[in-house]
Amino acid sequence: MTITRSARGTLTLSADHYASPALFDQERRRVFERSWLCAGHASELPRSGSFLRVDLADESLIVVRDGQGTLRAFFNVCRHRGTQLCWEERGDAGAALVCPYHAWVYGLDGALVAAPNMTGEGDPPLDKSRYALVPAPLAVWDGFLFVSLDPDPEPFESARAMLLGKFDAWRLAELRSVERKVYEVDANWKLFFENYSECYHCPVAHPALNRLTPFMGSQSDLDDGPVVGGPMFLRPEAESLTTTGRACAPPLGDVSGDDLRRVYYYTIFPNLFLSVHPDYVLTHRIEPLRCDRTRIVSDWFFDPRAIAEPGFDPGPAVDFWHTTNEQDWELCRRAQLGIRSRAYQPGPYGGLESHSAAFVRDYRRSMGQTE
Ligand code: FES
Ligand code: FE
Repeated sequence: MTITRSARGTLTLSADHYASPALFDQERRRVFERSWLCAGHASELPRSGSFLRVDLADESLIVVRDGQGTLRAFFNVCRHRGTQLCWEERGDAGAALVCPYHAWVYGLDGALVAAPNMTGEGDPPLDKSRYALVPAPLAVWDGFLFVSLDPDPEPFESARAMLLGKFDAWRLAELRSVERKVYEVDANWKLFFENYSECYHCPVAHPALNRLTPFMGSQSDLDDGPVVGGPMFLRPEAESLTTTGRACAPPLGDVSGDDLRRVYYYTIFPNLFLSVHPDYVLTHRIEPLRCDRTRIVSDWFFDPRAIAEPGFDPGPAVDFWHTTNEQDWELCRRAQLGIRSRAYQPGPYGGLESHSAAFVRDYRRSMGQTE
């Protein structure tokens, strides 16, 4: 469904939203500790014992695949003296998670199975059942892993109901990332949402992107709430967003018809951007580090059958978006610098920025601010 685009009179946020450590702290409590947060993709955990670590909102979590193939999330905290258990970003723990400090051993289900040499002469034996790893809620949507720091969150299926079934044709769960790039940029995390959510800046900032998908051709199919976005339309001669304009792989899954001519963009509040092309999917995971610094993890996902083909080359897709990313990060850096000035005051969003305005409204709701 196409929605008429309007910013509904929304203004940009005040300067303290981008520069105040106290407000950044409030965001941690009101936004990040209460929302489902994307932690990665199930394909990063191919076998029993595979784990990944994700650091978000001043917490560190681990996601691990247990002996039955079930994915589980735990706080990355040893129950002995609190040391972080997993230091690597990803890896293979084998049959158990072993703390690097005093070698307490946890099963892949989080149970403490051994605490070597703990019991002194005359001490009662350690009651291991009291010292399991602390679990965190985990949801898997189309292969993407979402964790929650809230022990009793609204179920993902109702909190993000608008996502269910929406991308079935692309079979996102089957995809694998062939390239990851990690960026750190001196700008507040919200500036990346505001920037990603509009192509008003494309003719000026991204001439190559604008040649393949002209900026006036953007639409909206979700324009309010935690998931916002819609399609943009490829010019007749373009197959995908790459440096050549040609696709890097056959269409994903069951993609057909109009979807072969579209690139879909969505923000999933508060830390994921999903860019769905006919032949690949690009994700950006947003990790706020400080009020004025953000880490962005970008992944390029393809179908494993295309990856296995001789001559498969994702380079034109990776290069295209790496260049575009760098252009965007500079815009965000410059926005951060300008907003710091005493001359800055909230400004108006235009119709082409309706998704940026929707982000600001949803953010305000999450923060308990009146719109
Ligand atoms: Fe983990 Fe001691 S802190 S075993
Ligand atoms: Fe951009």
